[in-house]
Amino acid sequence: MSAFDGRALRDAFGSFATGVTIVTTAGPGAVDVGLTANSFSSVSLDPPMVLWSLARSAASLEAFRSCGHFAVHILSAEQEALSTRFASKGIDRFEALAVERGPGGIPLLPGCMARFACRLAYQYEGGDHVIFVGEIVEFSHSARKPLVFHGGRYGMLLPRQAGPAGEPGNLSTDDLLYQVSNAYFRTRQAVVEQLARKGWTAEAYAVLSIAGQGEGLAVHEIVARSWQLRGQPVSEDAVRQLIARGLLHEPEPARLRLTPEGRLAVMELSALRKASEAGVQGDLDPSEVQLLKHLLGRLELR
Ligand SMILES: Cc1cc2nc3c(=O)[nH]c(=O)nc-3n(C[C@H](O)[C@H](O)[C@H](O)COP(=O)(O)O)c2cc1C
Repeated sequence: MSAFDGRALRDAFGSFATGVTIVTTAGPGAVDVGLTANSFSSVSLDPPMVLWSLARSAASLEAFRSCGHFAVHILSAEQEALSTRFASKGIDRFEALAVERGPGGIPLLPGCMARFACRLAYQYEGGDHVIFVGEIVEFSHSARKPLVFHGGRYGMLLPRQAGPAGEPGNLSTDDLLYQVSNAYFRTRQAVVEQLARKGWTAEAYAVLSIAGQGEGLAVHEIVARSWQLRGQPVSEDAVRQLIARGLLHEPEPARLRLTPEGRLAVMELSALRKASEAGVQGDLDPSEVQLLKHLLGRLELR
């Protein structure tokens, strides 16, 4: 019996940030076996060796104890779902995965950051775990972003920006406010240009998207709403022009709604916006886009 509180010890272990791996082998009867593990560590360059540890309570214990080879797959930031899958019970973890075969017929998963196929070299008792040491017989590696695990949660790696600090008194391009405004104007410009190419103004876009929310607003209410949403009002004229173009109508007094043509226009505009959004994301990968949205959502202006 440990003298420590199990929860506290688990939390203390969890404060060590790790990557996430899936370890696989071919079990008895050539059945594919695999599980999510973050106990992985590199051990030796010469000979090339790695280790990981498996709970004695794991269903796969006997398969790994008696295996000739195993493979360690280091997961990329996009593979969180795969990690969850290989930690879940009662499902076929390999279902619909295009596995390749390594030494001894072990299953190799595609699309990982790095992959080490190992010969099982040693196994050691490690309390309620067994420590497996493997000698690498082949490996591959590609430049991706890693999936990270810390404090019982998945995360992603954010490299430190080593930018020069701005001179006091100068307008520093390193300021948060500068960067946010600059990004706003650059991304907005991209959208405005897309709209202009199709003969739309940003104002018309704003009016139609507000009117498209469907509550039936008066002209002055659309103007007020545009203040709240864009930080600048649309003109009453812009609203009236859309009425004249047959995109808005007033079935009840002071209750503007989209006409069927107006609804089509909103669909066209939202397709344009989606296309611009893809352009604005540039070469950010999906995990960076997710991170950026999360951080922008947390920005608070006082
Ligand atoms: C991020 C993460 C890391 C894990 N690391 C390990 C580990 O290093 N060793 C281990 O035995 N279980 C680890 N687990 C738990 C196993 O993946 C889980 O218990 C799995 O169901 C065991 O599979 P099995 O019982 O089929 O062998 C981890 C789970 C997660 C989500």
